[in-house]
Parts: sequence; C-alpha cells; structure tokens
Amino acid sequence: MLLSVERINVSYGRARVLSDVSIHVNEGEMVFIVGRNGAGKTTLLKTIAGFLSPEEGTIRFGSDKVNALGPEEMALKGVRYVFQDKRVFTKLTVRENIQLAAYAAGVSLSEAVDKIVQLYPPITRFLESKAGTLSGGQRQILLLGRALIGDPCLLLIDEPTEGLAAGIIEEVFKVLEMTRRKVSMLIVEQNLAVVRRLADRVYAMKEGHIVAEVNTPEDIQNQTLLEEFL
Ligand SMILES: Nc1ncnc2c1ncn2[C@@H]1O[C@H](COP(=O)(O)OP(=O)(O)OP(=O)(O)O)[C@@H](O)[C@H]1O
Ligand SMILES: [Mg+2]
Repeated sequence: MLLSVERINVSYGRARVLSDVSIHVNEGEMVFIVGRNGAGKTTLLKTIAGFLSPEEGTIRFGSDKVNALGPEEMALKGVRYVFQDKRVFTKLTVRENIQLAAYAAGVSLSEAVDKIVQLYPPITRFLESKAGTLSGGQRQILLLGRALIGDPCLLLIDEPTEGLAAGIIEEVFKVLEMTRRKVSMLIVEQNLAVVRRLADRVYAMKEGHIVAEVNTPEDIQNQTLLEEFL
C-alpha cells in the first residue's frame, strides 16, 4: 500500500473538520473523493500533503509514519499537491513557471518542458506568454504538468475540472488519462462524468466523515449511486 490514512481527526482551532477518516491508495491506483462543498475534501488532501497535522490517527506513506512531516518533506518523498485555486505565477512566462518546478525537482529545463509538451502539445505556442494570460484549463494543465516533473509517486489533485468549460475539461481529462498507472493519484472531483471514466475506487465524504467507498466498476458506473453524495 502506498498511502494509508488511518482514523485521523483534524481541526481548525476548536472546529473539528475531519472525524475518524480512513482511506488508502495502492500503487498505480486512481482514487477519487467526492462530496458536497464543505465536506472536508480539501482539508483531507492538505493533511496528507503535510500542511495540516492530524490530532489523532496515523498517516503512512510506504512503510513510514508521516504524521509530523511538513509539505517540503512530503514533497521530497514524492508527494505533490495541486491546489484547488489553480494558482500560477501570472507575471512569469509559462517557460519560467516550468523552470521553477524543474529547479525544485532537480531536473533540466528542457526535460521538464518536453514532459509538459508531451502531455499537452498546444502548450508549445504559449511558452513565452505570461502564465496570467492562459485560460483556466490551460493553467490547470500547466499545474498538472509541473506537478509531474521529477517523477512523483503520488499526486493529490484538488478539483482539477472545477469552473472549466466542457471542451477544456476533455483536455484535462486526457492529461489525467495519460498519467494513469504511471503515478498514483488521489483526486477530489465533483464532475461525476470524469469520475466514472477514470476512477478505480471512489470515497464519498459528508460532514467530515467518509460515508461510503465505491469500489466495483458496476457501482462506479451506476448513474444514481454517486449522485447521492453531491
Ligand atoms: N482555514 C480554515 N479555518 C477554519 N475553518 C476552515 C478552514 N478551511 C476550511 N474550513 C472549514 O472546514 C470545513 C471543510 O472545508 P474544506 O475546504 O475541507 O471542504 P471541501 O470539501 O474542500 O469544500 P469545497 O467543495 O467547497 O472545496 C468547512 O466547514 C470549512 O468552512
Ligand atoms: Mg475544497
């Protein structure tokens, strides 16, 4: 097992946001988390990424207990977090944005650029444009590409298709599909069409709890089963 979250509790100050949450991700798996606004999905990803610490419970990555590790240490272990807010360095060019990620991951700029161009060839036209001029979907693809530089083990992706137009959702989908099996992924997603097409397993969250695990292909394709949780 690559990632194992065992009965964690997480609070902001005195407000308990995650209660007794347990999930796992196996090597090569693509696992989704669905749930309504405020269910605690982002909090769960941030906790795994090391931005928050659980008060109780255990997070294991490989065979190591990682409860107390911060985001830099988790990144060194190969865990990358793609934030919900699609934030890029707007005043830098796309190439410079890639360069920062390449530097952080210790790979050459040309290797990093090649990797992103492979995932999304149209990016070639925008390499010298300011990242602030990219559409929401192009930013998301840039962020996914950046996260993949340096061969991470686990990507944590927070609502990759949120707020995107239908056409570009398909492009983001393609990037995720190309990455499938090469990197393990834990993805928060409210677009059930995307979930159905990609998920190996799905967890549903409600009010800080995991309320269901959907783990057979038939149940994942069931039109009404997952809708209940949104
Ligand atoms: N920094 C914070 N301080 C205090 N409370 C917070 C903080 N961030 C989130 N919360 C609260 O924690 C709960 C869970 O928030 P979280 O962002 O994890 O939900 P979410 O499932 O990701 O929602 P969304 O679908 O809107 O992104 C919400 O009630 C939210 O108001
Ligand atoms: Mg969220």
